[in-house]
Amino acid sequence: MIGIENLRVRYDSDKGVVDAVRGVSIAVAAGEFYTLLGPSGCGKTTTLRCIAGLERPTAGRIIVGGAVVHDGERGLNVPTHRRDIGMVFQSYAIWPHMTVFENVAFPLREIRPRLSAAAIRERVAKALALVQLSGYETRPAPFLSGGQQQRLALARAIVRESTVVLFDEPLSNLDAKLRAETRLELRNLVKRLGMTALYVTHDQTEALTMADRVAVMRDGEIVQEASPVEIYRRPNSRFVASFIGQCNFAEGRVRSVPDGAGPGWVDSRWGPMRYLVGEAAPGRDVTVAVRPENVRLVRAGEAGEHDREGEVLDSIFLGEAVESRIRVGDGELVARVHPADAVAPGGRVHLRIPPGDVAILTG
Ligand SMILES: Nc1ncnc2c1ncn2[C@@H]1O[C@H](COP(=O)(O)OP(=O)(O)OP(=O)(O)O)[C@@H](O)[C@H]1O
Ligand SMILES: [Mg+2]
Repeated sequence: MIGIENLRVRYDSDKGVVDAVRGVSIAVAAGEFYTLLGPSGCGKTTTLRCIAGLERPTAGRIIVGGAVVHDGERGLNVPTHRRDIGMVFQSYAIWPHMTVFENVAFPLREIRPRLSAAAIRERVAKALALVQLSGYETRPAPFLSGGQQQRLALARAIVRESTVVLFDEPLSNLDAKLRAETRLELRNLVKRLGMTALYVTHDQTEALTMADRVAVMRDGEIVQEASPVEIYRRPNSRFVASFIGQCNFAEGRVRSVPDGAGPGWVDSRWGPMRYLVGEAAPGRDVTVAVRPENVRLVRAGEAGEHDREGEVLDSIFLGEAVESRIRVGDGELVARVHPADAVAPGGRVHLRIPPGDVAILTG
């Protein structure tokens, strides 16, 4: 497992003071795939580097696999090579002057007491087989494709058979198709090996598809931690809602809260809306949030009591869907619909937004 308690990192340089990490606490269970998600500069790499021992925290405690590896108060700091950790860096950090074999063997040569040449050969062969690079042993590392280099970096991270592996945006250099294929492969590999993974990314799709749990970071702090489904359906702030997926927002004021009798009501630029997600007292100013895929278009004859009338302003054809900007009430929102249900610009539509898909946010 990995435990981080109240981690702080402050950079004090001639360009000024940067609080890169401002009190981060997380607990990753053994065998869990945990993802840190956040925009560029929010402190993801800094957090990983502290766990690996490549950066010295300003304050806090770090536990890896049951052992305390850093404790600011007690002045304890276990050096990198004595931490039981594999790591894939943001830039791969593959050694270009070495062959594939030597790249993977390198971490094993650090182990004391020394491993025999035969033991090293055996472990390298096993790691290369796992990432499907058997047969490439003698090839110079730069003569691999981007995807193969990524897998080489992975082999190097797992060859030590450490229980904890850290990933810093390992797929960011791959093209879109390969990235999509590698996501699942990588998750399955980590699960198969029973490793505990901390995976850093700014890509929401990676976080949603790979993680058991996601923590969203902003400005050196974790702003929400939950399962992928939970964080997508119940974001706790406008920042999280817009960082994970697309979202329509409108200012609003709560009229009533959901109770046994039915959903709550909130007044907004889109008109009065029924909602079920989120908590705020009547009279409170809130942000109303609706995902584009939750806005359904219904035919005039089938419109129900709560469906809203609107006018299509324009549409974008995306292949598998059409995104239409629709004027409703005094505002606008984007609906994402199946191409067969699309309505031409200028057309009148009826919008159906189930109350379970309407969230009110106070942050
Ligand atoms: N050695 C350093 N000296 C001063 N500031 C630094 C140093 N390293 C990082 N920072 C600053 O700390 C903050 C966090 O950086 P970090 O690299 O952790 O971000 P990140 O979330 O990994 O971003 P990205 O997605 O771009 O990789 C940034 O503002 C960065 O400029
Ligand atoms: Mg980074």
